Amino acid sequence: MAQIEFPDKFLWGAATSSHQVEGGNRNDWTEWEAAGRVRNNDQSGMAADHWNRYEEDFELLTKLNLNTYRFSIEWSRIEPEEGEYNPDATGRYLDMLTALRERGIEPQVTLHHFTNPIWAPDWSDPRIVDCYLEYVRHIVGAIGPHVTYLCTINEPNILAVMAYQQGAWPPGKANILTYWKALRNMRRAHKKAYKIIHEMYRDNGWETPKVSMAFNLQNYQAASNNPLHKIGAKIATYFADEYTLRRVRKQLDYIGVNYYFSHRIGKNLEQTEPPKNDLGWDMRPQDIKQVLLRLKKYGLPVLITETGQPDAKDAFRGWWIVRELVATHQAMQRGVDVIGYTHWSLLDNFEWQEGFAGRFGLAEVDYETQRRTLRPSAKMYGRIAKDNTLSQEMIEEYS
Ligand code: BGC
Repeated sequence: MAQIEFPDKFLWGAATSSHQVEGGNRNDWTEWEAAGRVRNNDQSGMAADHWNRYEEDFELLTKLNLNTYRFSIEWSRIEPEEGEYNPDATGRYLDMLTALRERGIEPQVTLHHFTNPIWAPDWSDPRIVDCYLEYVRHIVGAIGPHVTYLCTINEPNILAVMAYQQGAWPPGKANILTYWKALRNMRRAHKKAYKIIHEMYRDNGWETPKVSMAFNLQNYQAASNNPLHKIGAKIATYFADEYTLRRVRKQLDYIGVNYYFSHRIGKNLEQTEPPKNDLGWDMRPQDIKQVLLRLKKYGLPVLITETGQPDAKDAFRGWWIVRELVATHQAMQRGVDVIGYTHWSLLDNFEWQEGFAGRFGLAEVDYETQRRTLRPSAKMYGRIAKDNTLSQEMIEEYS
């Protein structure tokens, strides 16, 4: 296969989220961790100390020739008590934005990535919508002039399943009703936030924002021609995947896609088992193509806001990236307007209920010394970003 060139101005990036890398947080997750609800009793603690080391971390982005960085703002830092805002925390995020802009890096800012302040109602309680919107008004008022890409809420479908249906994340509710309530409240919060953000930008004369949610989109594929498998795949796609997306489609300026999973519905004995990552999940990088093609009907730009693998030995991260980019490009050739690829993650980090077990970083973090070391796959990714091209050698090596 010949080399693959990406369009001019394609966004190449890496992502993190506040609670997973910053360290020193106090929110619903730190309480959950303290209660021993995480694998190995891990607690996020200082995590990767990104709060203090962000300059060093942004240097990594520069070294890798990346031109975008997705990170999240920690609501509990901005509003530690209801209605009481911490200007120092806002100031730190503004410093981060300045540091990114100085390096020519386009920020993608997520306003909510799974964590809530301790005082806030949980997402199954409708009162959270107004609390969230107050926080949005406050933080967007400060960062608005520096940010174009905004994500209101990360992965509503995953948060609803993990925290309100399975009870594996705080607040630990395991009930189908709380699941639907949480989803509905997140949807309402997004729709209103979308409107508020656009109005604020317009009223202040800031550059028009691009607002979205980041959707965890998965490929559900029938394992055979059995009509039951086919129907199963359709139902799963609708309810697990596109349910929220369809309902907020009018309030999206682009579609943020987080891709990790591809499933086969039904048993097919001829199937070869896909390789598994460090956390035992199946890896099917090429199937991102099906997910992207499915989005064509929305006619919106698509930004890959997350994708990556826990791979402590860096044994398959490079393969994942290359195979996925080949598939992404194929979807682009079939008309999907993909504007960027943001790898999860820039750094090893705190992987929710898995604690520190999953090593997703382009850079390895030694949690004793907080030393960062770029993994070999990161360097390859950096070459792709620099040349805006996937070379023939890379494609051949991983085909
Ligand atoms: C989440 C991240 C998480 C990653 C890997 C995504 O669902 O947004 O916070 O670390 O997946 O599991």
